Amino acid sequence: MKQEIRFILNGEHVSLNVDPSRTLLDVLREDLGLTGTKKGCDEGDCGACTVLIAGKPINSCLTPMGKINGQEVLTIEGLGDPEQLHPLQEAFLKVGAVQCGYCTPGMLLSAKAILDINPQPTEAEIRDSIAGNLCRCTGYTKIVEAIKYAANLLEGRS
Ligand code: FES
Ligand code: FES
Repeated sequence: MKQEIRFILNGEHVSLNVDPSRTLLDVLREDLGLTGTKKGCDEGDCGACTVLIAGKPINSCLTPMGKINGQEVLTIEGLGDPEQLHPLQEAFLKVGAVQCGYCTPGMLLSAKAILDINPQPTEAEIRDSIAGNLCRCTGYTKIVEAIKYAANLLEGRS
C-alpha cells in the first residue's frame, strides 16, 4: 500500500506517494529521473548507489522509502552542476580520477562525507572512507589523490 513520504532532496521539499518498501535508489531513478545515482550490484556490495542521508553515506539500494520520511537526502545532482562544479568534481577531473565514471557519483558523495567532518584526512582515512565504493578502473590511486586535492581546494577557499 502506498504511503505519503516527505523528505528534503537536494535542498528541496519533496512529497511522494509511494510503496514504502520500494528502495530509495529505484524511486530516485525511476520516479524522479535522478539517474546520477547508479545501480550496480543492487545488493549493498558496490557503493555505486551511495547517497548522503543527514550527511552520512548510505547504500540507497538497501534503503526502503519508509526510512526516508523526514530525512535530508543529497544525491550527486545536488553536489554541483556543469556551470558550477563542486571542488571534488573539479579535483576528480583535474587529477584524472574518472575513467568509465560508473563509481564516480558514489565516490564523490563518500568523499564529501569525510571532508565535511575531517577537512584534511590522512591517506588511510580517505581509503577507509571509500572502502565501500568499488572501482573497477582506476586502482584507487587517482581517486585518493583527487580527494586530497579537493581537500586543499576547499581549505584554500574557506
Ligand atoms: S547498487 Fe547499491 S551497493 Fe551496489
Ligand atoms: S571509473 Fe570505472 S568503476 Fe570507477
